[in-house]
Amino acid sequence: MATARGGFSSRLGFILAAAGSAVGLGNIWGFPTQTATNGGAAFVLVYLILAFCLAYPAFMAELLIGRYGQANAVTSLQKMSRTAWQKNFAFIVGFGGIICAALILSFYGILAGWMMSYAVQPAAQLIGMESLSVWAISDSTARNVIFTTLFMVLTVLIIRKGVEQGIETWSKRLMPLMIGLLVILIVYVLTLDGAMEGLSAYLKPDLSRIFEPELLISALGQAFFSLSLGTSVMVIYGSYIAKKENLVTLGAQVTLIDVSIAFLAGLLIIPAMYVAQSQGVAIFAGDGSLISGPGMVFDVLPKLFDGMGFIGLFIGLAFFILMSLAALTSSISMLEGPVSYAVERHNIARPKAATIIGLVILLMSIGIISNIDVMLDGVATLATEYGQPIIAMLVCVFVGWIWHRNEILNEIKSGNENVEASLFWNLWPWYTKFVCPLAIAMVFIHSLKLF
Ligand code: PFF
Repeated sequence: MATARGGFSSRLGFILAAAGSAVGLGNIWGFPTQTATNGGAAFVLVYLILAFCLAYPAFMAELLIGRYGQANAVTSLQKMSRTAWQKNFAFIVGFGGIICAALILSFYGILAGWMMSYAVQPAAQLIGMESLSVWAISDSTARNVIFTTLFMVLTVLIIRKGVEQGIETWSKRLMPLMIGLLVILIVYVLTLDGAMEGLSAYLKPDLSRIFEPELLISALGQAFFSLSLGTSVMVIYGSYIAKKENLVTLGAQVTLIDVSIAFLAGLLIIPAMYVAQSQGVAIFAGDGSLISGPGMVFDVLPKLFDGMGFIGLFIGLAFFILMSLAALTSSISMLEGPVSYAVERHNIARPKAATIIGLVILLMSIGIISNIDVMLDGVATLATEYGQPIIAMLVCVFVGWIWHRNEILNEIKSGNENVEASLFWNLWPWYTKFVCPLAIAMVFIHSLKLF
């Protein structure tokens, strides 16, 4: 049941909202890109293992903190703290996550704006608006500012409505639409010439690469980004789950959906690349690797859609709508982190908080756009390669070393009476205490190239 501060009205509402946050550009763009650059299925295999063995336990830690605290990330962490230094530490970790979410949204909004503009391009062509269609993919500052603003307005409008009528309602509408589009596109692309070659490139692992440190780092980073960890988002979503729900299964279901959709996205993108090749589009970069990143989404795939003639307009439209929807269900979760903080800690009305914070983040995006070549990568690296792992690690330290074991057990038991005898309870506390923080720290230090 929804409480006075709002909450998900049903189990499905939470699952779709949390999966909506998790499934985003990271799955449909990031995951296939990483797979393409890291040895195909070898990456997929490592990703699956890390997602369940490292990201899922950290995800559970965040959900539990939120449901225990029944509040935003800072307040929830402070409820678990006893001493003054612990409360300060709680503030740093909680607020750090909120800042991290805002930073991610500031660059994510720009990428999402591109997705919308690439959806407008075929739509404009279909209705005969040639000049709009050319401008929509023109790479100009005006185009970037306008589409980023449009995307932020949509995000703010949903968050202004609150948890049940905003986040839950829209996740319930958009997620099935997104999954439906994804499946239709996969089925269509797999019928085209060249798709089977792509499928085997995707599914045949190059096992010699499996222990490469670069691959492990990329897979862990991708898993953390995908589950929205280290951003306060899953803490606040956890706080909206009813006490009667079984968090262990809910968390596992969301992880499974997230991983499955990343896998499905690979089934679409990699075969689509090879279909493009069979139509004469170059898909390999100079060093022999599959073209990835922006080149893949904004160059190779549009060329493929172009080559399909009239039907290509619809396929292109469906693909970029899919991308925009995936981005939207993620961006609302990023905005909810700071907004819930402003509402609960500073008593600001939700619509006002959503609008003001949305505006501040939009200004940050415009700052990035003004020097896009340097800033886009810079902010993305700062937030996702530094911010997220550090905060996620500190959250695990908090749960493993500061939160009392009995309190944790009581929280997990709520909605899951027999958890004490389960494999989860026998492993997870040790995992969050030792394995997760150490593994995250090692990967993080390695990514700084310190050893
Ligand atoms: N999980 C989203 C994706 O895979 O695209 C990205 C994301 C959402 C990151 C929410 C951080 C966040 F707080």
